[in-house]
Amino acid sequence: MIDLTEIQPRGVDRFETRPQMPPAKLDALSRDILALKKELNAIILAHNYQVPEIQDVADFVGDSLGLSQEAAKTNADVIVFCGVHFMAETAKILNPHKAVILPDKDAGCSLAESCPAPKLKAFQAANPNFYTIAYINCSAEVKALSDVICTSGNAVKIVKAAPPDRDLLFVPDENLGAWVIEKTGRPMTLWRGNCYVHVEWTHASIMRIRDEFPGAPLVAHPECTKAVRMLADEVCSTEKMVGYCRRTPAKAIIIATEAGMLHRLRKECPDKQFIPAPTDNCRCNECRFMKMNTLEKLCDCMTNRSPRVELSDEILRKARAPIERMLEISARPD
Ligand code: 13P
Ligand code: SF4
Repeated sequence: MIDLTEIQPRGVDRFETRPQMPPAKLDALSRDILALKKELNAIILAHNYQVPEIQDVADFVGDSLGLSQEAAKTNADVIVFCGVHFMAETAKILNPHKAVILPDKDAGCSLAESCPAPKLKAFQAANPNFYTIAYINCSAEVKALSDVICTSGNAVKIVKAAPPDRDLLFVPDENLGAWVIEKTGRPMTLWRGNCYVHVEWTHASIMRIRDEFPGAPLVAHPECTKAVRMLADEVCSTEKMVGYCRRTPAKAIIIATEAGMLHRLRKECPDKQFIPAPTDNCRCNECRFMKMNTLEKLCDCMTNRSPRVELSDEILRKARAPIERMLEISARPD
């Protein structure tokens, strides 16, 4: 059995060793948040990469697909979205008449930033036969220019369902796109964007940890580079990682995705040990955008009902159709 205390001092799992909030403060804030939730008739949705104390007060914790499915069916009056901005925007697009509030409106995404809408529009103009598939990690404006949205959890299914007579343009993640091409055999033009966190894992950094824990399978997010994906026993979205880790008989598993996932996995599989895959040059398995949200900011946004996601009627209308198409395809039997 691997002892995690031997792993943590190497500094890879900075997220788990960060300073803890004093228990009394944690309890008081969590209590206030739960009271506000009742008062507002709110639902708290949190991505798997959020800090543990936010995950622990949320009504639903999941991947981008699960979060959009929850947002599409909620009866709550207010959606409190703990993730990054494009995720809260997606919830607003699906609920144009509800208030969607978020702890920090500056929590962006390097991947979303790599694909500005005017650049995409110009690129699409070059080929009228393009059918644009946008990974959900993009702005509402980019969604409004797209034919269908996908997440890492359903990208293969969405691409398989694309019209056979169209040229596929996949934006903005080149690594997820390349993985989907491998899985479907369908050629696609790939936008040259990537996630600044997931490209930090390298062939060498993974080989080192595999040598150290030869029996432990490696699970990697499809935003990782091919050099890492080809070493993985499983490549999947954050939610599918939970299923894989439950099913595998292995007692220790190496995880190549953002560090917040470790809290979720440790809660779901308390009898297993999760080894954060080390990056090469830095201790950067944390998304600085996801970590902009704190329990204090969550409490503040619920107290002030602000910041809120605001989008123009035109963007709300145009971005809704490709998200609904994704939800409809996703719900089809496999
Ligand atoms: P999931 O689709 O697995 O939730 O991943 C979202 C993300 O931002 C990965 O970096
Ligand atoms: Fe964006 Fe990467 Fe952060 Fe995910 S981990 S939200 S893709 S910057």
